[in-house]
Amino acid sequence: MTQRQLTFAANWKMNHGPAETRAFAERFLALTTPVEGRRLWFFPAAVSIGPMSEAMKSRADVEIGAQNVHWEPKGAYTGGISIPMVTEVGARLTLVGHSERRHLFGETDEQVARKTRAALAAGITPLVCVGETLAERDGGRTEPVILRQTGAVLAALPATDWDRVVLAYEPVWAIGTGKNATPDDAAQVHELIRMALSRNGISARVPILYGGSVNPENVASLLTRPQLDGVLVGGASLTPEGWAEVIDRGSKAKVCPSGGYDLIEG
Ligand code: PGA
Repeated sequence: MTQRQLTFAANWKMNHGPAETRAFAERFLALTTPVEGRRLWFFPAAVSIGPMSEAMKSRADVEIGAQNVHWEPKGAYTGGISIPMVTEVGARLTLVGHSERRHLFGETDEQVARKTRAALAAGITPLVCVGETLAERDGGRTEPVILRQTGAVLAALPATDWDRVVLAYEPVWAIGTGKNATPDDAAQVHELIRMALSRNGISARVPILYGGSVNPENVASLLTRPQLDGVLVGGASLTPEGWAEVIDRGSKAKVCPSGGYDLIEG
């Protein structure tokens, strides 16, 4: 039996170059201490992965990831960045299929599956994002969309590989809009994903994070839901003080009376 760890993941998107990243790291290190069973993930811009990895060297609870990678290790892909390149500067994780990649850059389910496979083959953890748009939700299509996006990854990986995959449910209508899903909305979709995994013989070990306008005010009510194993946060992760507060409030919401975090055993 392993317990899923509580995960706080910061997606900085196209913010914080190397100098701002170093300044963030210095302040953040002073504001937080490692806690057993809790991991802190950062996804800086590609040029800031190295500086952030370097700055966080002393912290075993912190890991750094890329926001996007190509599935090929090298080649004629202008503007692309490969997994060996990001691992060379310290990345141990990568986001895959973030909604901004899917909807602004036309990333397909098939490409998401290829990137996930490539990340696993290279030994880094993919954090695969799924989520429906507002039109899909309003049209009652949340369930088929989530099942299609999850299914594309399920079809691409053997069950044993899922030990190293992390998922994030991020409703597109909640990202950067200030409109977060209610804890009920989020828990319901997390259950749907969990069901799809277990129907495919995937154990309950895969952590599922929630993302979309998470902030210090709403993080506790979201994380009190046992279906949520952590959060993936954009805007509210950009200042060290704000992000440390999200982590602190969210962590307190998950502590169970017997100590440790109140997560489902898998
Ligand atoms: P947000 O972004 O917290 O700014 O809504 C979340 C994400 O896109 O991962």
